[in-house]
Order: sequence, then structure tokens, then C-alpha cells
Amino acid sequence: MANENTALVTGGAGFIGSHLVDELLNSGRKVIVVDDLSSGQLKNINSNCIFMHGDITSDALDSIFEKEKPSLVFHLAAQSSVAISSNKPLLDASTNILGTLKILENCNEHGVKKLIYSSTGGAIYGEPPELPVDESTAPRPISNYGVSKFQGEQFIELYHKLHNVNYCILRYANVYGPRQDGNGEAGVIPIFATLIQDGKQPTIFGTGEQKRDFISVHDVVRANMLAISNGKNSTYNIGSSVMYSVNQIYELIKDHYGFTKEALTGAPRAGDVFEISLDYAKAKRELEWEPEIDFENGLQETLQYIQTH
Ligand SMILES: NC(=O)c1ccc[n+]([C@@H]2O[C@H](COP(=O)([O-])OP(=O)(O)OC[C@H]3O[C@@H](n4cnc5c(N)ncnc54)[C@H](O)[C@@H]3O)[C@@H](O)[C@H]2O)c1
Repeated sequence: MANENTALVTGGAGFIGSHLVDELLNSGRKVIVVDDLSSGQLKNINSNCIFMHGDITSDALDSIFEKEKPSLVFHLAAQSSVAISSNKPLLDASTNILGTLKILENCNEHGVKKLIYSSTGGAIYGEPPELPVDESTAPRPISNYGVSKFQGEQFIELYHKLHNVNYCILRYANVYGPRQDGNGEAGVIPIFATLIQDGKQPTIFGTGEQKRDFISVHDVVRANMLAISNGKNSTYNIGSSVMYSVNQIYELIKDHYGFTKEALTGAPRAGDVFEISLDYAKAKRELEWEPEIDFENGLQETLQYIQTH
């Protein structure tokens, strides 16, 4: 029997996972974090959770499920960088595909009530024919990272069909907010801000006219919390539908710091989509979720955090 009040968060030392851990603890749950600290940081981990330092692909994961018997699993641990996935496809596949399978095996064996999976709307659709893209559009990822996250989704759907493992898949747009570092899927804001703060010129890859849908980490955490009760065995886009170009982001951050230099330019990066924005109507209808944080306010919160940490 699963422990009703226990939630396990993989990747709980990371950017999004650590905010989710804080909220789950606030809701009165016992929270177990499994993280190998490959991109996460000890300082992000809430001292009220139980932290297990380990790799989700290792057999140590089985003993954690056996001992704690969580009823909810939030699976965020991932190799989360498009750039790293291009250079290290085997590492990416190992964590994102085999790691997800290992989680699924444990969910099935230990009677987990629901698996909530952090997927990517930013990288899974590739270059869709229409924007904002909705969930009925077939994923056509153009990066190893996008393929590996999609494979994770497919295994989750299969385990539901074959073994009745309940799930909710959340496909995020580009997530931003406090605690983000520049290495993840959408690190443009901390990368630009940190360099500008040090008086250095950031590099814009390509024309800078590539556009992204930005969503605050606080909105993303709220989607995860709503998924506990409202999420069906289904997939939801979690984004704002509003796009900002990299050049616009640069201007906003430049203005914030009163920085006057132009950015350096670099070649476009393989695997980066040119434009993406997500239609969140399904999440609004079924999860009762919609974005609440306006981008320019969320950006100011993020820049203030970067300046004080
Ligand atoms: N940040 C975004 O814009 C964004 C967008 C879409 C989807 N996502 C997804 O959200 C999730 C969290 O992303 P994030 O931005 O917080 O990234 P992050 O890199 O900050 O968090 C990932 C965490 O997983 C841990 N981890 C990596 N490999 C592991 C392994 N083998 N075993 C145990 N722990 C491991 C890392 O140490 C890190 O703490 C990921 O699944 C990512 O694919 C993020």
C-alpha cells in the first residue's frame, strides 16, 4: 500500500523541482527528493525534505521506493540541456529514457497512485505548422533532448495501457524564475543577466529573432499541484501562448541594468527551434490552470533574485 501523504520528487535539487518541493511541503506532505546533483544544487534543497543523493538509473532507486512507498511521484530528473544532448546523446538517452523506465517500473511495482511527468512543449513539437501549438499536433522533435523526452512520454502512456499506471504529462514552455542557472533548457535569462551584471557582452546565436513562450516557475509549480487532483491520464501544454524574441529579452535585461553595449553574435545552434508557443486551452479546461504571472513582472522578480544571490 502506498503512503497517502508521501510524494517523491526526482530532480528536486534542480531549478523547477526545488520550487515544487517547497510547495509540496507547504501542503503538509512528506517529501523525498532523489537527485544526483549533476545539474542541481544542494543549496536549493529544502531542509524539511528527505534527500537521497543518487542516480535515478541506479538500483538504489528501487530501495527508496520499497522503503518510502510514495503515493505521488513527480518525475523531473533529466539531462535538461539541448546543447548537451547534441554532444552527449548517450548520457541524454540514459537519464531521460532509461531513467524514466526505471521510475515507471517502480511506480508499477509499488502501487504509486499518480506519476506527474515534466515534459517539454518547447522542444517536443519541433517546428509545428501552426502557433500556438496544441496537444493534438504530432511531436516532431529536432533535438536528441526532444526525442528523449518524447520517448519518456511514450513509455508512460504504454505503462498506463499495459499496467494501469496513472499519469499526467505536463509539457512546459520555456520556464524562468529564481534559482535557474544558465545550463538548462531555457537559460537565456540567467545567462544574459549574469554576464551583463559582470559588465560582459552576451552572445546571441543566429539573428536573435527566434521566439519563445516564457512561463514563470511559480505557474509551473501550480500546474503540478493542480495535476494531483485534476490531471486525467493525459497530456497538457503549460505555457503562456505569448512569444518574446531573444532580441527583445536582451533589450529588457539591458534596460534593467542600464547596460549600453550590443550583444556579440554567434552561429545558430543545432537543435534550437526557431519559434514556439503553446496553446494552453486544454490545461485551462481540465486542470483549471492558466498562467497568472505576466512576463515582464516575472522577469523583474528573476533579475532581482540574480542580483541578490
Ligand atoms: N527549464 C525549462 O525551461 C524546462 C522546459 C521544459 C521541460 N523542462 C523539464 O523540467 C524538468 C526540470 O528541469 P529544470 O529546468 O529544473 O532542470 P535542472 O537541470 O535544474 O533539474 C534537473 C535535476 O535533475 C537532476 N538529475 C539529472 N540527472 C539525474 C539522474 N540521472 N539521477 C538523479 N537526478 C538527476 C539534476 O541534478 C537536477 O537537479 C526536466 O525534466 C526538464 O526536461 C524544463
